[in-house]
Amino acid sequence: MDKNYYITTPIYYPSARPHMGHAYSSIIADFFARFKRIDGYDVHFLTGTDEHGLKIQRAAEKNKINPLQFCDQISQTFRDLSKKLNLSNSDFIRTTEERHKKTVQYLWSVLEGNNDIYLSKYSGWYSVSDEAFYNEDEISEKEGSKIATLSGSLVEWIEEESYFFRLSKWQDKLLDYYEKNPDFISPKSRKNEVISFVKSGLKDLSISRKAFSWGIKVPNNPSHIIYVWLDALTNYISALDYPNTKSDLFKKFWPASVHLIGKDILRFHAIYWPAFLMAAKIPLPKKVYGHGWILSGEEKMSKSKGNILDPLDIIDEYGLDPLRYYLIKEVSFGNDGNISQDKLEDCINSDLANNYGNLCQRVTAFAEKNCESKIPSNIKFNDEDLIILNKFSENLSKLRVEIDNQNINYYISFIVQALFDSNKYFNDQEPWKKKDNKQRLDTIVYTSFEMIRKISFMLYPVIPNSALKVLSIFDLNFDDIKFDSIAKHDYLLNGKKINKINILFKKIEKTND
Ligand code: ME8
Ligand code: MG
Repeated sequence: MDKNYYITTPIYYPSARPHMGHAYSSIIADFFARFKRIDGYDVHFLTGTDEHGLKIQRAAEKNKINPLQFCDQISQTFRDLSKKLNLSNSDFIRTTEERHKKTVQYLWSVLEGNNDIYLSKYSGWYSVSDEAFYNEDEISEKEGSKIATLSGSLVEWIEEESYFFRLSKWQDKLLDYYEKNPDFISPKSRKNEVISFVKSGLKDLSISRKAFSWGIKVPNNPSHIIYVWLDALTNYISALDYPNTKSDLFKKFWPASVHLIGKDILRFHAIYWPAFLMAAKIPLPKKVYGHGWILSGEEKMSKSKGNILDPLDIIDEYGLDPLRYYLIKEVSFGNDGNISQDKLEDCINSDLANNYGNLCQRVTAFAEKNCESKIPSNIKFNDEDLIILNKFSENLSKLRVEIDNQNINYYISFIVQALFDSNKYFNDQEPWKKKDNKQRLDTIVYTSFEMIRKISFMLYPVIPNSALKVLSIFDLNFDDIKFDSIAKHDYLLNGKKINKINILFKKIEKTND
């Protein structure tokens, strides 16, 4: 079986600086990418920026610079954020790059050649903020203005000559595809809304605009700009060298394993994108996963609402790994979640400082005093040791299945439970009372070290820097982290010296408790 894995984030609009919602999607994608790598997969992980269209053109005009310069600046802040978040992305694509523009124009020609595109006239509602067309029944009124009910964004009426994609023609084939591939739209809760939208009848989709110029030109009719979503979605294959289907990247990584997105852009990924691909006779991605929103109060955190938490400020104040851990653990994946500094601090104190940090610190300090700072090797496991150690071996295949179902909550609960069990084990076994039975004392220390090692392997995708720091106690580095080896009990049996590490996570003094 081919062990290849291709995961993508949305490509973000560089209309303003990145915020917590962007950081969230990227961190989650990084979690999956890192997990798959330690599970022996060849991973391609793509992120980037979506730079064309009226939304960006207007943002540039507001800042009084030309759109490309504007995009250069803001796209760079997204690239910088990727570094700050310690993303292990393989590539960062910008839709203003030549490699991308060529692919989009090529795809257009294929769709046109297959008779899926025709020229007509569009009249209807358009939201620049969403870069989306809406039907009359999707519009409501707020404070005297017309808005898209779904997103709350302002819409404007447009009437112009436009090319259309024959979306209606693909309605039954899409429904058929959803039925035959029940995991294609995930989580399940999102599937029905897509299916009922498609069943309600798909109209042909306007895929070009004439009223502005910032975008990729329609081949053979440069007065038209290609619709920014057709342009943007194509990034997932332009980054794999499409139309060169013989390229290593395309052969290995297409179709994508999962497009990870927020639920706000599910329609584009679960309806339009597969329809474009079917029409171009390109295989469809295996899964589109629409996660929930990070809320600020009751509302979606978003640039246009101005209620954003800046990930950079949070990282400066608390460090990166606490933020990663918090977002991955506390925002129940798939659902909306409120985040707050208060909860972040609790999470740092209880899980990271008290449970993980403390376990590492305690066992290491005990081994320094009682085991000559070495990993003990004269050991003999009893049932209690084996029970705690074996829990992992029994659950490896289950953990893999849960990860393939994007069940992050399961994965994290597993870690939290293992941390709890390990602390309890060390307390209950009372190695400090076993000084007259050195083999027993050594075995307890060894078992605890093995637990720290296993848990750190599992934590690597979540908090890579901290996990690697802990593993340096045992002289282990990235190349040693293999998910499979979590099941082994003799992994550390080498009598090596242990290395000292500094405090991992500082407890936060909370003023309100
Ligand atoms: O939609 N909570 O870009 P965008 C969770 N360019 N995730 C959030 C979020 C929140 N409050 N706010 C944003 C676009 N996100 C298009 C995508 S893809 C071919 C083109 C995340 O800058 C989430 O992943 O508006 C959401 O789908 C994405 O950022 C939207 O980013
Ligand atoms: Mg958006």
